[in-house]
Amino acid sequence: MSSTNLNATEKLNEFRLKLNEHNDKLIRASQKMIIARSKFSRREVEIDFVKSAENEYKIIKKDFKEVSDNSFFFENVKKAKEELKKASKNSKEYWKLFEEYKLAVFLYKESKVAIKDRGHGGLLSKLSQTALKLDKIKFRYREGHPFAVNGVSVEIKHGDYIAIIGHNGSGKSTLSKIIIGVLQPTNGSIEVYGNKVTRNNINMIRKFLGIVFQNPDNQFIGSTVRDDIAFGLENRRIAPSKMADIIVKSAKKVRMEEFLDHEPLMLSGGQKQRVAIASALALSPDILIFDEATSMLDPKGKNEVKEIMVELKNTREKTIFSITHDMDEILNADKVMVMNKGELVKFGSPKEILSEKEFLRSIHLDIPFVAQIEEALQNEGLKISGSANLEELVKNICQK
Ligand SMILES: Nc1ncnc2c1ncn2[C@@H]1O[C@H](COP(=O)(O)OP(=O)(O)O)[C@@H](O)[C@H]1O
Ligand SMILES: [Mg+2]
Repeated sequence: MSSTNLNATEKLNEFRLKLNEHNDKLIRASQKMIIARSKFSRREVEIDFVKSAENEYKIIKKDFKEVSDNSFFFENVKKAKEELKKASKNSKEYWKLFEEYKLAVFLYKESKVAIKDRGHGGLLSKLSQTALKLDKIKFRYREGHPFAVNGVSVEIKHGDYIAIIGHNGSGKSTLSKIIIGVLQPTNGSIEVYGNKVTRNNINMIRKFLGIVFQNPDNQFIGSTVRDDIAFGLENRRIAPSKMADIIVKSAKKVRMEEFLDHEPLMLSGGQKQRVAIASALALSPDILIFDEATSMLDPKGKNEVKEIMVELKNTREKTIFSITHDMDEILNADKVMVMNKGELVKFGSPKEILSEKEFLRSIHLDIPFVAQIEEALQNEGLKISGSANLEELVKNICQK
């Protein structure tokens, strides 16, 4: 790519982000204006209040002309055309410049699309190493109903593995839907890698996120594993030339590369979930959410999927949330979020959380198998605690 086109490619993303930000301002100003008008009609405010809201809206609207100025991309096409004219026809140089010219035209067209769709195709960058920041998030499904999520605040740093536990109906799934942007919080704010989530940038925010659901059978569209992983890539308009490589790489990460031509429905539950993980990974999300992804699997399938989750954790390339009923799984986590009645009642390391056995029981949560054995041994007078897994427990017992 020529340096001018390279510059234009970067500028295109900046252009999209600027358009998106402006659109966000415009929407907020228009909402404010509508509210002001309706308040005025109820005689709750003076006319000056409406006028000032209208003025604010007008000023922002006027800026649109400047923000949507794509003459840079037009100039880039002109430059590429002039270069092309200078080259002698059909020479090697000519065809190279012809390609550059085509790219310049493409970028110009994309800039026009960006103006129309208000920059939704932009890619946000990571502004912070905090993967997720929830600030006093509240959500209820209906006015007058109790809050399904009630004032949750938490900060999660990039690369952490977070387990979310809680009794049925404690708000775990609602919270995960809020995080992936399917539900908008009634109150509170969310930041994803330092980008404040707004109604308007949610499409761009979603590119940071991937989710694997509970039921392995509800996640397939393609007739082969390969098609299935390709589906999400096509949706994201990834260049076809790059697809094959991405598909193989993501299948390898879940050890399913030998199954690429298999029919998804013929796979075991554990294999299906691994393909679902590969499909999510293909889109290279920075945050991956597993909503009870192992709960419908047999013990073998559970272990296969848990193993992959631990491998992903160990790369520290992704931030992982795992909503789980499997109390043994929380031992793999860096931090555990305990939900009860919509509230985040505890947030700490697995050790810290598990030391509060009575509390966990009071909110109807079991303790992991290993911790249960430890407890039984403690009752027999053996001072053993904090084993991370069965092997460690055995070692600890042998040392006594
Ligand atoms: N679509 C819905 N409409 C109304 N209430 C819902 C809906 N989904 C969940 N709830 C309610 O919200 C609360 C939290 O549910 P949920 O987030 O599914 O909990 P969990 O995943 O921890 O089991 C529960 O009281 C549940 O009944
Ligand atoms: Mg749930």
